[in-house]
This record gives sequence, structure tokens and C-alpha cells, in this order.
Amino acid sequence: MTRLNGKSALITGSARGIGRGFAEAYLREGARVAIADIDLAAAEATAAELGEGAYAVQLDVSRQDSIDATIASVVAQTGKLDILINNAALFDAAETVDITRDSYDRLYAVNVAGTLFTMQAAAKQMIAQGHGGKIINMASQAGRRGESLVLVYCSTKAAVISMTQSAGLNLIKHGINVNAIAPGVVDGEHWKHVDAMFAKLEGKAPGQKKAEVAAGVPAGRFAVPEDLTGMAVFLASSDSDYIVSQTYNVDGGQWMS
Ligand SMILES: NC(=O)c1ccc[n+]([C@@H]2O[C@H](COP(=O)([O-])OP(=O)(O)OC[C@H]3O[C@@H](n4cnc5c(N)ncnc54)[C@H](O)[C@@H]3O)[C@@H](O)[C@H]2O)c1
Repeated sequence: MTRLNGKSALITGSARGIGRGFAEAYLREGARVAIADIDLAAAEATAAELGEGAYAVQLDVSRQDSIDATIASVVAQTGKLDILINNAALFDAAETVDITRDSYDRLYAVNVAGTLFTMQAAAKQMIAQGHGGKIINMASQAGRRGESLVLVYCSTKAAVISMTQSAGLNLIKHGINVNAIAPGVVDGEHWKHVDAMFAKLEGKAPGQKKAEVAAGVPAGRFAVPEDLTGMAVFLASSDSDYIVSQTYNVDGGQWMS
């Protein structure tokens, strides 16, 4: 299949995890893909492993100069930008009374401001090109409802769902579709980190939180990044031209909305 043939895609935080899975799928569909990550060494290794069509860019979504340089670099490499996935994000967990300003500032700088201003820079480029575009924001089931120990992360993902709604309404006049994906629990390094945090906060054995969470997924297991790629390709393709401001749950049945 080559549903994204000739398209130029930028995927933030794609050196590993879900973003890397999206990059693999987009390459299979014929796109050129910027593996954009704060961890340049990992981005370069991933781009080399993924092969033709993939190239690494260092990007810190919390810095405007880095966002602008990344868009310029994508345009220098491929002549244009057609698709953005705002995938980079940070996670943290704490009792409400223990949340720090530092944690709040870091998560909001990456998950909220990073998503907004990367979306804005991509939209400016797409408007200048005059052919529309596709922007996909990574939300989460965590943005659909609160979680006792996850106040800051949940609120950043609720903000992503809200920003997707407003930006989608505002940008569709330029032929730019803004939509989001809300995964449930996806296996990878991120969850090792989450499991370790919960082990500490809830006094659980390593691996226990993950096993409990997996048992509660109606589909009976964690997702793997490939479970999300069908939606990511669909939302980047012309099949989604009439879809505006939506957030799709791809979560094995954990949430209905
Ligand atoms: N894994 C899950 O269970 C899950 C569930 C729901 C939503 N999500 C969302 O999916 C997305 C990807 O999650 P993942 O599990 O693959 O995460 P991950 O932690 O494995 O990967 C995130 C990537 O983002 C990069 N990154 C961090 N800060 C950055 C910055 N300032 N600028 C650029 N890159 C930066 C990291 O280096 C890393 O490569 C995130 O938005 C996450 O919130 C994940």
C-alpha cells in the first residue's frame, strides 16, 4: 500500500516507542519521515535502522527556536511538510499534595506548549504551501478522565483534546485536518518507567501495576505500537479529509465516548 506516496511527514518523539511505530508505517506507505527527537543519537540510530526515506532531526518541542529550525530542516530535506504527528510527551505521577512546580512546568512545556507551538509552526508552513495538510495530536485515555496519582499528565492530555477541537475548527478553512488519537496502554519503555513509578507510589512489586492494568483492558492485553498505526495512516490520508477536530480512542475498549 502507498497511501502516503510522496508525502513529507514530521513525527515528534519518534526515536522510540509509538512514534517509531508511526514512522515505520508511514515509510511503508511511501512517505518521507523526519525522525525528530530531543535524543539526537537515538533519532539517528532509528533513522538508520528504518532506512530509505527516514532522516533524523534534533528537536526540543519545548523551545520555539528548535521547532522553527525543525520545520526549516524538513522543508530543506523534502521541499515541503504535509503531515505532522505531535507525539513527544512526558509523564509523571505523584500524590496531589506532592506535585511540584518543576513537574508541572516540564509536562506543560512539552505536552501542551510543545503540541500547540509545533502545530502552529506546521500549520503556517502548510498554509504557505496552499495544499492543506494533516495534523495528528497524541492524546490519551488519561485525557478523558482523572486518575488519582496522575493529575498533571491527565490534565495535559485533556488540553490536547481541547486544542485539537479548537485548532481543527480554525484550520479546516485552509484544508488542514487536525485530529487526535487517544491510546490506552501501549507497551514500551514508557511503561517500564510508569510501572517503576507506581511500584514506588503504591508499594507494588515491579511488574505488578502493569499486570493489573493489562487484566483490566477489555481486549485483554496492552497495545503494541502497531495497534495504533492503522488510525495514524488513516488520519494522514485523503480518506480522512472530512474528519475535523475528533479524538479517536484506540484503547482495546477501555473508554467509550
Ligand atoms: N505508552 C502509552 O501507554 C501511552 C498511552 C497513551 C498515550 N500515549 C502517548 O503517546 C505518545 C508516545 O508515547 P510513548 O509511550 O511512545 O513515549 P516514549 O516515552 O517511549 O517516547 C517519547 C519520545 O519523546 C521524546 N521526547 C521527550 N521530550 C521531548 C522533547 N522536549 N522534544 C522532542 N522529543 C522529546 C523522547 O526522547 C522519546 O523518544 C505520547 O504523547 C504519550 O503521552 C502513550
